[in-house]
Amino acid sequence: MDTVVISIGGSVLVPGEKDFEYLSELGRLLTELSSQHKLYAVVGGGRTARFYIELGRNLGADEIYLDEMGVQATRLNARLLISALSGRANEYPPETVEEAVELGNRHEIVVMGGTTPGHTTDGVAALLAESVKADRIINATSVDGVYTKDPKKYEDAERIDALTFEGLLELCRTSSWKAGPSNVFDPLGAETLVRTKIPLLVLNGRDLPNLAAAIRGEQFSGTVVSGEEE
Ligand code: UTP
Repeated sequence: MDTVVISIGGSVLVPGEKDFEYLSELGRLLTELSSQHKLYAVVGGGRTARFYIELGRNLGADEIYLDEMGVQATRLNARLLISALSGRANEYPPETVEEAVELGNRHEIVVMGGTTPGHTTDGVAALLAESVKADRIINATSVDGVYTKDPKKYEDAERIDALTFEGLLELCRTSSWKAGPSNVFDPLGAETLVRTKIPLLVLNGRDLPNLAAAIRGEQFSGTVVSGEEE
């Protein structure tokens, strides 16, 4: 049985549009796939995290405190996904990767949010994948792959179909950590992938048939980050 870690952005899970439809269909899909695959889902904070982080920053909170608010938002979103999994997953999001690994012995699907300040749920997903020796990590985002620049801002951004771990790290490097949205994948996540060499598949998480194909290890539309360039 393949082990798959899925990092689902909050902006994919609850963008504020067709949230109920998407969550119930995603719940059905993961439930169905959990009979053939060991699944771990790490859920991001999306709009809720951004709202609290921006407001808190303007009020003078420090970056660690803002990160902690972000983590709480990720756990709130994790509970929504848990609600859609009709008892197949743990009831409460674990607070550490170690706890998630342990829950994996008792539940078909494990759902968690963030852990500690200083990274995003992408970093958590990469560390969890290392701990459970995952076959692949799927980054279910609001864009359909990794682009040369932000496709929401630049019309001439081009999708990269295949990328090496080092290439990803190069794209993710930022000078300093700040609470709030990151770009492609966070630096901790990219560094962990360089070390573990677990393939990362980046795709649009709202396209459920495509997400299902990636979970099954079949051909999908998006970017593959692996040891090999195309
Ligand atoms: P997200 O994982 O949703 O980050 O966590 P993001 O960058 O907004 O979304 P993606 O990864 O690009 O999809 C929301 C915020 O919560 C804090 C960070 O401030 C992050 O920006 N956080 C989250 C942590 O400090 N630690 C964690 O383990 C997770």
